[in-house]
This record gives sequence, C-alpha cells and structure tokens, in this order.
Amino acid sequence: MSLFILNMDKTIEKIVSLCKRRGIIFQSSDIYGGFSAVYDYGPLGIELKNNISQLWWKEMTQVHENIVGLDSGILMHPKIWEASGHVDAFNDPLVDCKQCKARYRADEFAEDVSSLNWEEIQCPKCGTTGNLTEPRQFNLMFKTHVGPVEETGTEAYLRPETAQGIYVNYQLVQGAMRMKVPFGIAQIGKAFRNEIVARNFIFRTREFEQMEMQYFVKPGSDDDSMQEWKEKRLRFYQEQLGINQSKIRFHEHGENELAHYAKEAWDIEYEFPFGWSEIEGIHNRTDFDLRRHEEFSGKNLSYFDQPNNERFLPYIIETSAGLNRMLLTVLADAYWEDEENNRVVLKLHPRLAPIKAVVCPLVKKDGLPEKARQIMDMLKPHFKVLYDQQGSIGKRYYRQDEAGTPFGITVDHQSIEDNTVTLRHRDTMVQDRVSIDQIQSAIQDKM
Ligand code: GAP
Repeated sequence: MSLFILNMDKTIEKIVSLCKRRGIIFQSSDIYGGFSAVYDYGPLGIELKNNISQLWWKEMTQVHENIVGLDSGILMHPKIWEASGHVDAFNDPLVDCKQCKARYRADEFAEDVSSLNWEEIQCPKCGTTGNLTEPRQFNLMFKTHVGPVEETGTEAYLRPETAQGIYVNYQLVQGAMRMKVPFGIAQIGKAFRNEIVARNFIFRTREFEQMEMQYFVKPGSDDDSMQEWKEKRLRFYQEQLGINQSKIRFHEHGENELAHYAKEAWDIEYEFPFGWSEIEGIHNRTDFDLRRHEEFSGKNLSYFDQPNNERFLPYIIETSAGLNRMLLTVLADAYWEDEENNRVVLKLHPRLAPIKAVVCPLVKKDGLPEKARQIMDMLKPHFKVLYDQQGSIGKRYYRQDEAGTPFGITVDHQSIEDNTVTLRHRDTMVQDRVSIDQIQSAIQDKM
C-alpha cells in the first residue's frame, strides 16, 4: 500500500483499489512511486467524469436559457488575484508536529481554532502532547513564471478557482450575448491549490476540476436567488446523479467559516465513508468581486438596466462544485458489496455508467462471435458498448459489475435461430430474453 492511502477509511481503500483495477483512477506518476495529491483518470474514469460534467453543463447552459458558457485561461493577469483577495487572504492555517514532523491543517482539530490551546493537543500521528506549533498562515496558490526569464514582474499564478475568469469576462459576455440581469455564466475547468495535506483519495487534491456558475442578479433579489439555487442544486444530486437522499444535506457556514468574499454560504455535503464532507458550495458573493475588479482595473463594470434606466453593480450568487468530488460521491454512493452473490458492484445510474452494455458471445465458435459483432455495430453509434469473449460468462459479468456496466447482452445458440439475446440487469442479475431489434431502445429507456 502506498503512502498516499495511509490513514484512509477501509471502504475508501477498497474504492481506490477497484478504481485502479478497472481503469477508473490511477495515482499520478505511478512508475516513479507516485506524485502526491494528483490523480490520473483512466479509460473508464474519463468516461464517467465526462458523463457527470456533461450532465452539469446541460443542466446549466441548456435547461436554463439565461445561462451561457465560457472557457477562460488558467493563467490570467496576476493583478486579478490581488483584486480577488487571494494573494492576501487565500490561506490555510498550518500546524506542524515538532516531534514527528507531521503536518496538519489547523481546522482539522476544530471548526473554530482560535479557542484551542495547542500546547494541550495530542499529535494524531506520534501521540505526543505539547509538540504542535501555533498555526502559521500558508498561501495555497501555485506560483509560476511567464516568459523565458524568472525575474520579478514575470510571476503569475495557476488559478485557484475558475470564478475569476468569469468575473473579468462578464461584461464582454453580457454585451455579446445581449444578456439581461438575472443571467448566469458557467464554466468547467482546472483549478490548482497547494493543499497542505491531501487526504481521502480524490477528495482533496492539488490539481482538480471545478464546475462553477456565477449568477448575476439585481442587489436586493440576492436572498431569493440564493434560495432558488440551493433548491436547484440539491435536486441535481437527487434527480440527475441519483444520489441517495439520506446521505446528502446542507451545512450553513458560521461566521468563522465564511470565505473573505461571502455574505452567506451553504455547503452541500455527502456522507462519505470518512464522514460528512462538502461537495459543493453555494455562496452569496455580493458585489465584492466586481467592486474589487473595478478598483484594480480602473474599468466601470456596472450593468445598465435599460427598462428601468438605472445602473448598478450586480450581486453574484455562485454555485461551485468540484467535479472530482462529485465523481467520488457518485462512486461512494454506488459502491456495493453484494455478499449474497460474492461480488462487488458499482450501482451507477445507467446515465452515468462509462460503458452501457457488454456484448458477449457465449462461446467463441458456431457463428456466435459474428452475431455479437453485428450487435456491437448496431449499438456503437448510439452509446458506449464493449465486446468481451474472454473467460467464463460469469467472470465476464462480474468484471463488468465492478465497472458499473448496467447491461450484459449474451449471444447464444438460440440467438442464431430466433434473433433474440439475453439481457442481464447488473443489480438484480435478472436475465430477460429480448429480440435483437429491441435492445437499443430497452437500454436507452433506462438511460
Ligand atoms: N469559487 C468558490 C470556490 O472555489 P471552494 O469552496 O473553495 O469555493 C468549491 O471550492 C468546490 O471546489 C468545493 O466544494 C470542492 O468540491 C472543490 N474543491 C475545492 N478544493 C478542492 C481540492 N483541493 N480538491 C478537490 N476539490 C476541491
């Protein structure tokens, strides 16, 4: 077992190993011993991740006529991060153990760390007391240099959130698309944070993807809009991702938890095997960001409301989800040890499953592979299917149960006679006899 999964919950450990076995997620730089807090997505992982992000994109930019998309650069003018407050305030308090050199985020010990006496706290790793240092502030942004020479004035940052790319483009988008307040801009993209401690697999990593939507509203209507987006976002987890309702809840940020930009903030939390933790934040950022960008850029960023003949700086309601955390939520929610049948199943919703069906000839002769290939050709243009003729049929099914494939299509001798196949359902293992020309619609109905 590698260092990176030390301290992991047992179920998460099992998910980590399933992800490696089935080509979902690999630790970065594996052949070099790994690179901490970065993960690579394998053939099934990228399909699953794309399915999740496409659902989010559709929900935002297709279902909502007044939300449009954007793809801004990871590198931006460094002044943006001064204006946003990240240079001064994007810090995590860091605590070191003088004895064993373990390093912690101070907020792992208590939500409100100001009341703690660090002299009295035991180091969770070596168990000694009195060796933890007072918290030091540690900026989470990754610095880099732009241009061939590393000197002052060439410093830039890898963005720690995608939101700022939206704020600095908001007037261009509004003008080009003739958007009227309220309207939103959605973006999916990488973000980078030099996290002090990376734990729990893909939950907290140094490189991750965010799916953020910034909703520009008239000041005064922000509280109602906040309520509306809280409800919409919760519904997404239940209705689109099919997450178990009892494992999802809201948590409101108290005064000590609020980010420097927020007037009000709610987290959507999931009950992971390691406890309740945030998957998405919904924030009322007021006009903080636009006001700061006005100040630092010298540009007027107000919006002109033509019907009312007035100018104002919109307030912003932000919905900010981590794509990787959403994927971990989906995996944790789907992971099922079916003890009765001695198998592990990823009960992924067919809409999310990386592969929708496996097509198996029962034996490698008697024309069955050719018939199975015809079915592959028929289904391929519509959704992702896999051909498998290796090993016993039971083994083939179990491999796909672990990969979350919801359907198994088996071509047997009867198929040659009457053009029917068996359609196996992953969760119940029930097998129906279905006419070949009905398979596509039978599967698509479930998606
Ligand atoms: N623009 C607001 C913002 O970035 P945040 O609460 O810092 O707010 C939003 O982050 C979401 O991004 C989180 O709810 C989480 O899903 C994801 N996220 C943040 N840091 C992360 C990390 N180190 N690894 C994986 N996901 C992360």
